[in-house]
Amino acid sequence: MILEMHDICKDYPMGKTVTRVLKNVNLTVNEGDYLAIMGPSGSGKTTLMNIIGCLDVPTSGSYSLGGRDITACSAKELATVRNKEIGFVFQSFHLLPKLTALENVALPLLYGGMKKAQRLELARQALETVGLADRIDHRPDQLSGGQCQRVAIARAIVGKPKLLLADEPTGALDSASGAQVMELFQQLHEDSGATIIMITHDAGIARHAQMTRTIRDGILSGGVEV
Ligand SMILES: Nc1ncnc2c1ncn2[C@@H]1O[C@H](COP(=O)(O)OP(=O)(O)O)[C@@H](O)[C@H]1O
Ligand SMILES: [Mg+2]
Repeated sequence: MILEMHDICKDYPMGKTVTRVLKNVNLTVNEGDYLAIMGPSGSGKTTLMNIIGCLDVPTSGSYSLGGRDITACSAKELATVRNKEIGFVFQSFHLLPKLTALENVALPLLYGGMKKAQRLELARQALETVGLADRIDHRPDQLSGGQCQRVAIARAIVGKPKLLLADEPTGALDSASGAQVMELFQQLHEDSGATIIMITHDAGIARHAQMTRTIRDGILSGGVEV
């Protein structure tokens, strides 16, 4: 079992009151699962993704990832978990504009202290996996949105993380580029057995996953196999 959450709540102070944005979320994700979490804007998807990705901490509840108690980790330990075990894909790509595709993809490996030649070789391989072997020297402004997202996916997988997390990965793309990104997720899931959690407000996108859970008003529904 890779991920287990019990009774996760997240509160934000709003003036004198407190808003509960996640309400007793329970979630189990097994190795090799491809799960979509679907819900309308403002339902708590990004808040949940940030907690799953150890970018934020819950107000209460328990969370273990790969057998490690995340709620007991220090900030430094969380940074290591994020770097070694999780690959992130965001709606707006989050690529560094001055770096080439190859340099962007190699960047997460820098924190692991790997030699430059090896970093660049692994980055080249990841770009090949996403079908961009012929674009490695392009900067983000020389690539289309769909290509930028594929660079971001290469960056997410270059360190061979246990978990791939994507927040609205097709949200900024036209439908043809979005379909390519969905094909790529499918391929990663089938070929390398990647565990994927994808967050989306779009039912057509959620349908690509193996299973879907919906979140409404901070409450996560039971699982529905599709
Ligand atoms: N830092 C914050 N402080 C206060 N409220 C927040 C904060 N982040 C998110 N929220 C609120 O939590 C709710 C869920 O937000 P979010 O998780 O971003 O939703 P989604 O990604 O589904 O659109 C929204 O009502 C939002 O306004
Ligand atoms: Mg969001």
